Amino acid sequence: MKCFILLSMLTVSLAAHAFDLEGHRGARGLAPENTLAAFEKAMAIGVTTLELDIGLTSDGIPVVSHDPFLAHDMARNASGEWLGNATPLIRSLSLAELQTYDLGRAREGSATTRNFPDQQPRDGERVPTLAALFERVKTLGAEQVRFNIETKLSPAKPDETATPEEMVKALLAVIQQAGMAGRVTIQSFDWRTLKLVQQEAPSIPTAYLTMKTRNANNAADPTWTGGLRLGDYPSVAHMVKAAGGSVWSPNFAALDEATVKSAQAIGLKVIPWTVNQPADMQRLIGWGVDGIISDYPDRLRAAMQAAGIALPIPVQRRSD
Ligand code: G3P
Ligand code: CA
Repeated sequence: MKCFILLSMLTVSLAAHAFDLEGHRGARGLAPENTLAAFEKAMAIGVTTLELDIGLTSDGIPVVSHDPFLAHDMARNASGEWLGNATPLIRSLSLAELQTYDLGRAREGSATTRNFPDQQPRDGERVPTLAALFERVKTLGAEQVRFNIETKLSPAKPDETATPEEMVKALLAVIQQAGMAGRVTIQSFDWRTLKLVQQEAPSIPTAYLTMKTRNANNAADPTWTGGLRLGDYPSVAHMVKAAGGSVWSPNFAALDEATVKSAQAIGLKVIPWTVNQPADMQRLIGWGVDGIISDYPDRLRAAMQAAGIALPIPVQRRSD
């Protein structure tokens, strides 16, 4: 009987890795983005992977932040005052200075409160270091949980962040120190960083982010692709494959079933972002995508369950 239970647990665990349920910025729809509260929420719901964004402080510490500056809708100073649009660059603050700001609640009337009405505040949350996130995941005993870590930098705005070399060096050092190299993927719209990761840590999978809208198309701009030219390849997927990518992560609205299948046929995983509506989740699952990145891991679990896909195991706080 013991053997059977163990085998069942193993089956559930292995099956959970077959479809990658990624909590975007932790679980932005439900908790303040990229905070430890959001990552705990995602793990409590049950995800395969925590998606997160990285910047470097002035003292070179990798911290979890989407924007190159403190998030306009979220940042309050030590006196509890909202900073509004006048937030400093992460790059201009030491870790000690950065952590004087509270990111645990969205400002009333902001785009964040409008777009994410179910986001529950947790006052006192700080911009976490990547090392602190790894530590928290270990403390919770979440041994199956993976990390999809995005290097946030822009070739068009080099003054706002660290250089690709600085960022990759600092990031890999924290990953290696925490013994997490086997549990991370590194993703970016700025493919320069992915090339560096492949050189410095070839065992870490790289995920190539693309955004194709009426006004933007990073895959068609060699400053974003590390010099690769889309015209030299039959498709974006072929370019990702040639660059050494394991995963292609396009914005989901730019995807169709034939594109998913042809990318998979050349050996790529296709994991679109950021999918929040159940009907979109259902359609993409039907097309056979390898995973989905969502602000609402709870909705994604429901869509997976309806499609008969095995679910990752939720991780509760030890005190619960
Ligand atoms: O994982 C991809 C997704 O996070 C990219 O969008 O702007 O939320 O980082 P963004
Ligand atoms: Ca991201």
